[in-house]
Amino acid sequence: MKSDLISLMKPSVVAIKQQEIFKFNARAKSIPGAVNMTVGEPNFHTPDHIKKAAIAAIENDQTHYTVPEGDHKLLVAVANYLHDKYDLNYDPETQIIATAGVTEGVFSVFNAILQDGDEVLIPSPAFTIYGPDADFNGASPVYLDTSKTGFKVTPEILSEVLRTNPRIKIFLLNYPSNPTGVSYTEDELQALANILKEHDIFVVSDEIYSELTYNFKHVSFGNILPEQTILLNGLSKSHAMTGWRFGVVCGPAEVISQINKIHELATTSITSITQYAALEAYTNGYDDPIAMREQYQARRDKLYGGLKDLGFTAPDPDGAFYLFIKIPEQYEQDDVKFANQLLEEEHLAILPGSFFGIGGEGHLRISYAASMENISECLSKLGSFLKEYKNLQV
Ligand SMILES: Cc1ncc(COP(=O)(O)O)c(C=O)c1O
Repeated sequence: MKSDLISLMKPSVVAIKQQEIFKFNARAKSIPGAVNMTVGEPNFHTPDHIKKAAIAAIENDQTHYTVPEGDHKLLVAVANYLHDKYDLNYDPETQIIATAGVTEGVFSVFNAILQDGDEVLIPSPAFTIYGPDADFNGASPVYLDTSKTGFKVTPEILSEVLRTNPRIKIFLLNYPSNPTGVSYTEDELQALANILKEHDIFVVSDEIYSELTYNFKHVSFGNILPEQTILLNGLSKSHAMTGWRFGVVCGPAEVISQINKIHELATTSITSITQYAALEAYTNGYDDPIAMREQYQARRDKLYGGLKDLGFTAPDPDGAFYLFIKIPEQYEQDDVKFANQLLEEEHLAILPGSFFGIGGEGHLRISYAASMENISECLSKLGSFLKEYKNLQV
């Protein structure tokens, strides 16, 4: 061979960079006793009744391939759950696919829709997979800085961006949001839908944190604009099931059947055992998220109150389990420097906001999927950091 192997590979894949978050976390883990407030997953375990259903599935030899979209009983249970919780009406025969988490959902949806030259509108700061998923499909992410509008997309801005960017094929909406914790009310969603319905674009709505909404009832975009919406949801956050890898993609039947082709090529079907666990979660686990949500809410209140006392501000934490705090004005606004120094000097790990893209500068993301003890330690470490480290003051 004359060339190196990498030169034979797809440039758009080679160009994908290792995420800063992973590098930062590896450093945090290498510091013994560091308090880690970066975690993006529940610190609860999967409820026992779900674990038992999976064990029974193994013992009953439910260990074979299923149809690509997922076992019919499971899809019926998903449809019923989405109807009962969010008043959604998806036909389990044609409108739902079970995927290996929302992560595979985004991958399969983007693969099925995007081609060279397309654009994906991503309100920013944002969860970090959407941009690379657009990139390697030959599409370009168009990041919309939401930091001046309370980390929400306003109808005026949406209208203007869509008018001036006719190549946008997908509007990616994620609420409650990772990393900011903000969500949208029904009226706000309706105002966005009024604009979106005038354009030939899909709305891909990542509602993985829907069950963790504190300030008002979660309304799904699948309700607001069903004919254009591809809804993504799953069990990772609501039922503390990140390792099981379970998500759903729901939408118009003719679109779902195309996405199912990609899903089948990628996976054949998701794990049969996980499907049995998910069937139990969607049938008998309606209340599982409630107890967890109450605990998150208590942690959020303690952390939010403590941070305000220290001089931090944050957008309203409507949902998920993140606070997106602004570095107080009297300190240098370099969030990467702030987080690095905090980790080195106080052994407290929180993520720089700019790791989540445009609009995140000068902010830090703190996860409250953490014990009350760690929340107390986090507050006291931040307090002493602000007192001691005058060199960050401007
Ligand atoms: C907004 C958002 N979407 C999707 C995911 C991934 O979900 P899943 O575990 O279902 O792949 C995460 C995980 O942190 C997330 O924050």
